[in-house]
Amino acid sequence: MADYARPPGTADILPEQAGAWQFVEAKAREVCERYHFREVRTPVFEHTEVFERGVGDTTDIVQKEMYTFTDRGGRSMTLRPEGTAGVVRAFNEEKLYGGNLPGKFFYLGPMFRYEKKQAGRYRQFHQYGVEVIGSDDARADAEVIELADCYLKELGVDKYRLELNSVGCPTCRAAHKALLLAHLAPVKEELCADCQTRFDKNPLRILDCKIDGKRPEVMSAPMIVDHLCADCAAHFAGVKGYLDALRVTYELVPTMVRGLDYYTRTAFEFVGTELGAQSTIIGGGRYNGLVGMLGGPDLPGVGFAGGLERLLMTLAEDKVAALSADTLDAYVIVMGEAANRLAVQVMQRLRAYGLKVDADYAGRGFKAQLKQADRFSAPVAVIIGDDEAAAKSVTLRDMVSKEQRLVTIEHLLEDKDR
Ligand code: HAM
Repeated sequence: MADYARPPGTADILPEQAGAWQFVEAKAREVCERYHFREVRTPVFEHTEVFERGVGDTTDIVQKEMYTFTDRGGRSMTLRPEGTAGVVRAFNEEKLYGGNLPGKFFYLGPMFRYEKKQAGRYRQFHQYGVEVIGSDDARADAEVIELADCYLKELGVDKYRLELNSVGCPTCRAAHKALLLAHLAPVKEELCADCQTRFDKNPLRILDCKIDGKRPEVMSAPMIVDHLCADCAAHFAGVKGYLDALRVTYELVPTMVRGLDYYTRTAFEFVGTELGAQSTIIGGGRYNGLVGMLGGPDLPGVGFAGGLERLLMTLAEDKVAALSADTLDAYVIVMGEAANRLAVQVMQRLRAYGLKVDADYAGRGFKAQLKQADRFSAPVAVIIGDDEAAAKSVTLRDMVSKEQRLVTIEHLLEDKDR
């Protein structure tokens, strides 16, 4: 039997929700405009190496979540699981580093991860992300964090907290890694299977493991933020200082290290306080090695991405409903064959004038058409019968007061202004 259901972990966004989607997307574009970020659109699939190298082959994403396929030319391709690696690949390939730096980019679009099905976790989801490439200035970190904060506030989302940490650089990490391994060695065998692998490949990730993160031995482990080199410590102090100046409230969370390998220095997450297990709405940080790792010059970067599905979950239900309400400015009621020709012309003129207008194509009677006008909350019904058609006029009915008056076609639009 053919299976015509949509694939697990995907969703159909229907007109009832589309208005809310358009609102969060339009707000993202509008905020980015004000902060001088410009849109970039990269392919939905890339050569698999872009993510293996960019996101990191010890991450959950690369190890078990990528949609990878061989194309007809025998190349390994992957549906993008996130946006940063693709933007950096484009930055390098299009030699944007030769232009004005830093480059400030934003993107909106679908991402793909083969994750376990769970509320707030999808296999196709949508991200809004920003990237600043080419500056190591702590003001750039503060700017992207404050931009995210501003975005959430202007969406009307207020139940969240900002978690902040610094994960250092390869220099401080090497020294910290030795301390961390020595601390965790006695309990290595008791750690979960993922953390046993992380112990050898990327022990920092053990600190924010959902399973082992709560173990007393892990909670008492040396934290990277307490072992930063002088440069990283000064950078982190700078970021915190600018956030204070911007009155962005944050919580220092030394165990938060993020799930992608490219992060250096600043790491942050905006966490919804009323969401369930998948409560991170926006995550980001600095990635000073990524541009070079993907074949470009040694340029630093910082950015974030937010999940639109999770953002929408934080918006109040009545707000989502209002944003997607199906309303009209006028409903055209047509009675009789001869009226149809005039009616289509009237609709064309009203729409050209900027009004949202529709009519019945289902052969409803007069009363049923009036009901339709109410259903779409149209303040005005434009009634056209054969008599009106003969007189090149229409009857305007105020749907609230029920008052009606006859106006000629010529006066229809001017009448609307009065
Ligand atoms: P990420 O933490 O993997 O970071 O994802 C960012 C956000 O995307 C998450 O906080 C969440 O809201 C949403 N998200 C991730 N996976 C899913 C999923 N399966 N279902 C629904 N929503 C999801 C990144 O992707 C980095 N590229 C962010 C970044 C940009 N860092 C620097 N620049």
